[in-house]
Amino acid sequence: MTRHFVYFSSQASTSGKALSGGNLMKAGRIDIAIHSFIQGVFLSHEIRDDVVFHFIFYGMPDPPKHIEIHAGENLQVSKRDVGTLIKKLLYKYKVGEKNEVFPGCFIEKKSFLKVIDELENEGGDVFILDKKGEGLREVDIEKNPVFIIGDHEGLPKKELRRLKKTATKVSIGPKMYFASQVVAVVNNEIDLRE
Ligand SMILES: C[S@@+](CC[C@H](N)C(=O)[O-])C[C@H]1O[C@@H](n2cnc3c(N)ncnc32)[C@H](O)[C@@H]1O
Repeated sequence: MTRHFVYFSSQASTSGKALSGGNLMKAGRIDIAIHSFIQGVFLSHEIRDDVVFHFIFYGMPDPPKHIEIHAGENLQVSKRDVGTLIKKLLYKYKVGEKNEVFPGCFIEKKSFLKVIDELENEGGDVFILDKKGEGLREVDIEKNPVFIIGDHEGLPKKELRRLKKTATKVSIGPKMYFASQVVAVVNNEIDLRE
């Protein structure tokens, strides 16, 4: 079973240059994106081979950007280099293409809803991570689920209204957690079920 995590950020920068200065907080809180990715794909001394991690960035100067990273042995990245990987992918964006910059690492211009539509069409059940949703432990999770997580500002209201028709809201508990903590809990829940 492949788990898809879709991390949405309305402010994360869509320019590699903005990440070059090293201030990831100023680049639209790319630090949160990095923490979430680390919880999504890394285990102690191991990289998961059952996760596809998607970043959807709507920050300036050229939104939207969809970065798709297939975790696994081919992914040559350490926890310290995730920011550099994102920066390189943003630099290598090519107009009109889904550019595979490194094996399993793609960048393209695609909207949040279009990415979700495509994952749904591939057969994935879509779950929106939301404090007020159904308990994660209670929901059926079939093959290739898609988990949508927001950054510090949460998920966009208009798109959420549209997604509500087909997606299920799920909660990991009564507190408001960091996005990265949510990713870790979801991974753990599926690990336990498997
Ligand atoms: C730091 S929170 C966002 C806070 C933001 N101010 C808001 O109101 O949505 C980051 C993301 O983690 C997820 N999240 C946080 N707490 C959660 C919970 N208890 N259950 C499920 N998802 C949660 C949501 O997807 C949220 O967009």
